[in-house]
Amino acid sequence: MSERPGGAATDQAAVDPPAPVDALRGPGADALPPAPHLLVTGGAGFIGSCFVRQILARGDGTRITVLDKLTYAGDRANLAPVEADPTQAARFRFVRGDIADPTVVDPLVGDVDAVVNFAAESHVDRSILGPEAFLRTGVIGVHVLLEACRREAERAAAGTRPGPRRRLRRAPRFLQVSTDEVYGSVPVGHSHEDDRLDPRSPYAAAKAAGELLVRSYVVTYGLDAVITRGSNTYGPYQHPEKLIPLFITNALDGQPLPLYGDGLQRRDWLHVTDHAGAIEHVLHHGASGETYNIPGAAERANRDVVAALLARLGKPWSLVRRVEDRPGHDRRYAMDGSKLAGLGWRNRVSFEEGLAATVDWFRANEQWWRSIRTGDWDSYYERQYGARLAHGLPAADIASGPGPNEGR
Ligand code: NAD
Ligand code: TYD
Repeated sequence: MSERPGGAATDQAAVDPPAPVDALRGPGADALPPAPHLLVTGGAGFIGSCFVRQILARGDGTRITVLDKLTYAGDRANLAPVEADPTQAARFRFVRGDIADPTVVDPLVGDVDAVVNFAAESHVDRSILGPEAFLRTGVIGVHVLLEACRREAERAAAGTRPGPRRRLRRAPRFLQVSTDEVYGSVPVGHSHEDDRLDPRSPYAAAKAAGELLVRSYVVTYGLDAVITRGSNTYGPYQHPEKLIPLFITNALDGQPLPLYGDGLQRRDWLHVTDHAGAIEHVLHHGASGETYNIPGAAERANRDVVAALLARLGKPWSLVRRVEDRPGHDRRYAMDGSKLAGLGWRNRVSFEEGLAATVDWFRANEQWWRSIRTGDWDSYYERQYGARLAHGLPAADIASGPGPNEGR
């Protein structure tokens, strides 16, 4: 990508010639300037808010603007630790808006060094109930963000993109947060970044479409962009629609736990602080145009995850109900992480300690999850689980013992 320093970017810059813009360097080097300004879209959700909290708590001068539509899944309370701390709040701004709205997006992208896109409809079951919102945010929304970045790259190339301290800003780097679900179900082995995409739910298809758009902008317009594919993520502040928080909160209330099918589907669990840390690592050190898997290195059958969280809670297996399976349910996800390891990233949180801490967090933060399990929650829950639970069976037969996928 070309950048031509030396143009008159602002009145001030016209008086005093701007300092040259550093050329982007390869992996290993830092692709962002020191103390960057980031636009974090979807930053009031589960993983995005962790990313924001982690970076601002470090106090390294990074500034963050969050753009979030505050759908049912977004919650400003997830950013309360940032907003309550004056030194962090001084480097933080929240804007409520839709990534599919260029009138909101364009001015925000004009002022940043990078865009990190977490915004998405993120729940597979909801994508089966109603796919349209997934496409609007995952395709149109990503396109609006990419167009804004393309315009800013053109301004940077023309030397008309002002930054702080009379320096010209580089073109913005774009990071698309994607998922292992774009590979589809993986019966054996591990997915590599150049494997074929085979999404099998509307959610995964929308995420794959977003990735393809990003790649097209790299190839066609030379956009500086990277993609991450994270595995199943868990931890504090996760919306209680997802497996681990749903089952913890149901168990705390003594309600049944709706386990789909035989409970032997396998997921690779990644703690949210590791997911957010890996995304930041790729943002700084990933090579433009590349995609990086972020595995968790904790492949478990759903049944075993449920047994572990019940043990931590001291609740009985008899709460588990075996219910009608999710249509098109992917049996297994598993990714190879050597490309990310080659960039120097290592996860820090083991599944056992991460799950125990997550259970404890939900137990200690009842007010947070109760405020989410109100209003629209009841109608969603009835639609998703009403008939399933009415016809559900005790799950004693799948409580333990090796299943067909066990023994890896
Ligand atoms: P989440 O549902 O908790 O948060 C999504 C956030 O995006 C919410 O704050 C929501 O308000 C916001 N949002 C939705 N549509 C928007 C729009 N049009 N404009 C602006 N904001 C909008 O999701 P999450 O679990 O934090 O996932 C974040 C990202 O990570 C998603 O892109 C998801 O596909 C990806 N991912 C998630 C997992 C996982 O296990 N949770 C794993 C891999 C990848
Ligand atoms: P989920 O947390 O929805 O993540 P994903 O579908 O992205 O993997 O589900 C994790 C696994 O748990 C998945 O195999 C589906 C299963 N599951 C249940 O068995 N019951 C439930 O109520 C939910 C939400 C998920």
